[in-house]
Amino acid sequence: MSKEALEFITKRRSIRRFTGEPISRESLKTILKAAMAAPSANNSRPWQFLVVTDKEKIATICNAHPYAKFGVDAGAVIIPFGKKEGYKWFDQDMGAATENLLLAAANLGLGATWCGVLGDLEPRVHSAADLPDDMFAFALIPIGVPAEVQPPRTQYDEKRVRWETCSD
Ligand SMILES: Cc1cc2nc3c(=O)[nH]c(=O)nc-3n(C[C@H](O)[C@H](O)[C@H](O)COP(=O)(O)O)c2cc1C
Repeated sequence: MSKEALEFITKRRSIRRFTGEPISRESLKTILKAAMAAPSANNSRPWQFLVVTDKEKIATICNAHPYAKFGVDAGAVIIPFGKKEGYKWFDQDMGAATENLLLAAANLGLGATWCGVLGDLEPRVHSAADLPDDMFAFALIPIGVPAEVQPPRTQYDEKRVRWETCSD
């Protein structure tokens, strides 16, 4: 992998402070193109994306999630969602799309954070976002113009790597 490719990936950090400025439709479309370029089992692409830019609605959605309240100053919230029931690869496919989305946002100079939606958080986010009954919210992602800097880093840890075999 080239140095530039690693830089592209390590630029992505969770950003939780935003200036409140809006995000252009063009940037949001680029981010969604990256998300939808993700791999999925049998190319099933179980994803849909709710994109919210209305300030009041952003606040309603972010306040419904105890660990996403910082998102009220975001310029947009994206909720990747889809039909989870009966599709065993749902979480893996949605995770791949979500990571692509975050990488694209970071490389457009925007800040974002993956806020997980699981257990009793799902109905709360689901209802705040007014998703259809048969759909499942996978994550809540506030995206905004960053008002903080988090430095790139790899977190590479040689101890977590087993070259060729797992036995010592
Ligand atoms: C599945 C998942 C759920 C997460 N949920 C939250 C969350 O609810 N709120 C939050 O502020 N960050 C959340 N994060 C972000 C992590 O805290 C963050 O990725 C981690 O601390 C590493 O920091 P980095 O993203 O800057 O590399 C979540 C990340 C993942 C992958």
